[in-house]
Amino acid sequence: MTYQGIIQRYGHLLDLPAHSKIISLLEGNTPLIPMPRLGKDLGCELYVKFEGLNPTGSFKDRGMTAAISEAVGRGAETVICASTGNTAASAAAYAARAGLRAIVLIPEGKVAAGKLAGAIAYGAEVIQVQGSFDDALSLVVEITQKTPIALVNSINPFRIEGQKTAAFEICDDLTSAPDWLCLPVGNAGNITSYWAGFRQYQKGLPKVLGVQAAGAAPLVLGHPVDKPETIATAIRIGRPARGEQALSAAQESNGKIIAVSDDEILSAQKILAGEGVWVEPASAAGLAGFLTEAAKGHRPERVERSLDAKGKRVVVVCTGHGLKDPSIVTETFASPKVIPATYEALLGTIA
Ligand code: F0G
Repeated sequence: MTYQGIIQRYGHLLDLPAHSKIISLLEGNTPLIPMPRLGKDLGCELYVKFEGLNPTGSFKDRGMTAAISEAVGRGAETVICASTGNTAASAAAYAARAGLRAIVLIPEGKVAAGKLAGAIAYGAEVIQVQGSFDDALSLVVEITQKTPIALVNSINPFRIEGQKTAAFEICDDLTSAPDWLCLPVGNAGNITSYWAGFRQYQKGLPKVLGVQAAGAAPLVLGHPVDKPETIATAIRIGRPARGEQALSAAQESNGKIIAVSDDEILSAQKILAGEGVWVEPASAAGLAGFLTEAAKGHRPERVERSLDAKGKRVVVVCTGHGLKDPSIVTETFASPKVIPATYEALLGTIA
């Protein structure tokens, strides 16, 4: 049978109500790409789970197929979310597919071009809020408590159910869980989902390395951040809704949650692109975190904090596609040369 999406494939393992009516764009089934060159440098077996290859370009589609299937099945007519961009595009696409009205709230001026364009293209009503993602999330929580509009942020438990399937796929591909799973953490829905998925699937448990951006690292600092700032706009979040669960996942798995700088994120983005995998900045945070932790192992004074990668199987989750945020590349990578349209000029340039 041809592939028909995550609910068709793993629905028997997902806690979705019987009234759910499957709305799918054949999300999931994303590749686990081996990274032999990089892995050799680090002495480990390294893979990238490339979630940017989902239908709307991010992992959110796994959760959204579940949340929209439930909402439409119970008769909801309108869905709403707050978003740093990817959830907005995903909600818009799945709502369009289901014939629902979608309203998305985004922080004004802080959403990458590819995400905003996606949400508009799929026909959502996009509202810019003069505030942060956290402010927008408070607003959608309040309105969904007072009206029949359905909330499709990852506070919605069905989002978590859908996103568990990425952990199932990794276990199926590797035949067991990896030793380490490294991923970015924003609102903390995804780390919660992976941990729930690995525990449920019973093919072993990875240590989980959750990575926040230094300017938006409430889980590392131990308190909310009122004005989060990072180049990785997808994870520019100061009050993660599932923060407690993220901390539990890290603790129960003997992993940790760390912060990396914007420079480390951009450098990891370049390393991944150099291996042929172009991801958006937030999506490179998992690798950035792994590189800083694995590198500490080479420094004796930091040895107690190091992540021992030697000989280990490591999966880095790349959550969203590079096409989502093209300006970051045109602004921070070298720009193309301009030459006259002559053979001599070409030869002179490439010699
Ligand atoms: N990576 C990307 C590309 C994201 O878009 C997000 C979250 C994360 C990582 C973090 O995942 O929130 O489950 O911890 N983006 C949300 C959004 C907040 O609105 O699209 P998380």
